[in-house]
Amino acid sequence: MSETKKYSLAEVKAHNDNNSSWVVINNNVYDVTPFLNEHPGGEEVLLEQAGRDASDPFEDVGHSSDARELMAKYKIGELVESERKQVKEKIPDWSSGNETATTDSTLKSWVIPIILAIIATIVYRFYFLS
Ligand code: HEM
Repeated sequence: MSETKKYSLAEVKAHNDNNSSWVVINNNVYDVTPFLNEHPGGEEVLLEQAGRDASDPFEDVGHSSDARELMAKYKIGELVESERKQVKEKIPDWSSGNETATTDSTLKSWVIPIILAIIATIVYRFYFLS
């Protein structure tokens, strides 16, 4: 088994035209030169991103799982450890802090008025109906 090759952003940057086009997507390095003509999104968009980190534009397009499988064919290595960044794949994260906070405040906005209504009913019955 061969070890995964590591590249720096500077090395990737040198491959930025149609003779040699490399892109970085989610910390992986791809040589998309043979794919330029075949890319369903056109070669223009790939050439625009050639030599750079194209993770955000790639994710913004919302590529299919087929596209993600196809990528493996063009992977030549990974970004060096020191230049890696956090991967933001567009998959909803239900366990994120924000979601919990929203659920929490929704719960409070229901529970508090209901408790107040119950107290008001008890007070009303106690004072006015006795
Ligand atoms: C190895 C890298 C890539 C692979 C294998 C790939 C593959 C594909 C495939 C298979 C499609 C057809 C639609 C789908 O299945 O999602 C597609 C569409 C597209 N791709 Fe890529 N792509 C790559 C990189 C990029 C990058 C870096 C961009 C930069 C913006 C890009 C932009 C687009 C656009 C604009 C479309 C058209 C979307 C549409 O028509 O709705 N792709 N790509």
